[in-house]
Amino acid sequence: MEKMKKMEKMKKLGFGMMRLPITEAGNPKSIDQERVNRMVDYYLEKGFTYFDTAYPYHQGMSEAATRRALVERHPRDAFALADKMPVWLVAGQEDYRKLFDEQLERCGVDYFDYYLLHSLGEKYYADTLKTDGFAFMKTLKSEGKAKHIGFSYHDSAERLDRILAEHPEMEFVQLQINYIDWENESIESRKCYETATKHKKPVIVMEPVKGGSLADVPEEAKKLFEACRPNMSPASWAVRFAASLDNVRVVLSGMGNLEQVVDNTGYMTDFEPLNEAEYGVIAKATEIINSSIAIPCTACLYCVDGCPRNIPIPQFFSLYNNQARFRRVPSHVSYYLNLTQRHGKASDCVECRQCEQHCPQHIAIVEKLKEVSRVFDR
Ligand SMILES: NC(=O)c1ccc[n+]([C@@H]2O[C@H](COP(=O)([O-])OP(=O)(O)OC[C@H]3O[C@@H](n4cnc5c(N)ncnc54)[C@H](OP(=O)(O)O)[C@@H]3O)[C@@H](O)[C@H]2O)c1
Ligand code: SF4
Ligand code: SF4
Repeated sequence: MEKMKKMEKMKKLGFGMMRLPITEAGNPKSIDQERVNRMVDYYLEKGFTYFDTAYPYHQGMSEAATRRALVERHPRDAFALADKMPVWLVAGQEDYRKLFDEQLERCGVDYFDYYLLHSLGEKYYADTLKTDGFAFMKTLKSEGKAKHIGFSYHDSAERLDRILAEHPEMEFVQLQINYIDWENESIESRKCYETATKHKKPVIVMEPVKGGSLADVPEEAKKLFEACRPNMSPASWAVRFAASLDNVRVVLSGMGNLEQVVDNTGYMTDFEPLNEAEYGVIAKATEIINSSIAIPCTACLYCVDGCPRNIPIPQFFSLYNNQARFRRVPSHVSYYLNLTQRHGKASDCVECRQCEQHCPQHIAIVEKLKEVSRVFDR
């Protein structure tokens, strides 16, 4: 833990370089560099230091935009930069070095402060083991080219427990944590957080505002927030929820304009964790948001035991509900694909209907699985 001291002293708001302003609608490559420069300058002026980029963001242009806004305009010791190995592009061990060197060049740096294996889940974990990716990460650390090594993660808490037990050399994890996913049975934010904490690994949070969805909550929830804290945005509640967790070191927000940077740096400068009354408001807001659900599955699991195709019905319904409510969150597809590594797909259903006989909510499971399949089986 000694080695992670620098991270402990950092302010808790990180800058995610994944949703930068663009000049042409629909063209993620057309990054508005002048605006990014102003956003980065403002964020640094306010005393924040952590930036998170990755190989695929903005179709390969985020790393270069980060170089222009940050690396070419500010001293190297004024910021911490995190980047990630695109594990899906690795076919053999030699690819790691090639990709890593390309990333150093794109970013204009000779080391990363934090370097992650990008988006580990069942499949990419297995692939990374095959290509000896963990050994490569250790080599980077011993060379000083990655000051700290970790991974970002979208899968079950159980698997996270295994990965952390098998790879104690990983120093931190990046998890999807927000108040809506906290108890979600597919995403398992709380359980993943508790698992990382059990292994004494600090957590970096991604998607605290659920990709922007929690900035735009139902009117009833908005009124609750305003009654409690009249001058604070709905997004601030989501970021503060994640930042209030003791073992969270940085909460990444994918800020897309200067107003969002001003808002977020404002309440995060002298960060105040949520108090008991505010946790109560979040609980009520969660209920309001969850009450508009598409499939009223209670996750009782009565349906799953006898399924001949081992379909994880409640998890699929939970992901479907989430996707229906929060359309902009691409990681739902990753969770679905990870589940299908060890379970049947929604389209594998043979319509035997034995599950429907057990469902206390009388859900037309076979029909609903067809909708799940339409959304996720691509
Ligand atoms: N597997 C991985 O490693 C992985 C996956 C996902 C993300 N990440 C990293 O984590 C970062 C954070 O995730 P995210 O971008 O999904 O974060 P997020 O904070 O959940 O969502 C960002 C969006 O929230 C809205 N927002 C933020 N602050 C706001 C404010 N003050 N007022 C109003 N709206 C606000 C904006 O959306 P609108 O402008 O549309 O309202 C913004 O684009 C990413 O940028 C990326 O660096 C990593
Ligand atoms: S109807 Fe489909 S989901 Fe239900 S038990 Fe049969 S195969 Fe499984
Ligand atoms: S039995 Fe019905 S309510 Fe229970 S988990 Fe299955 S689909 Fe959901």
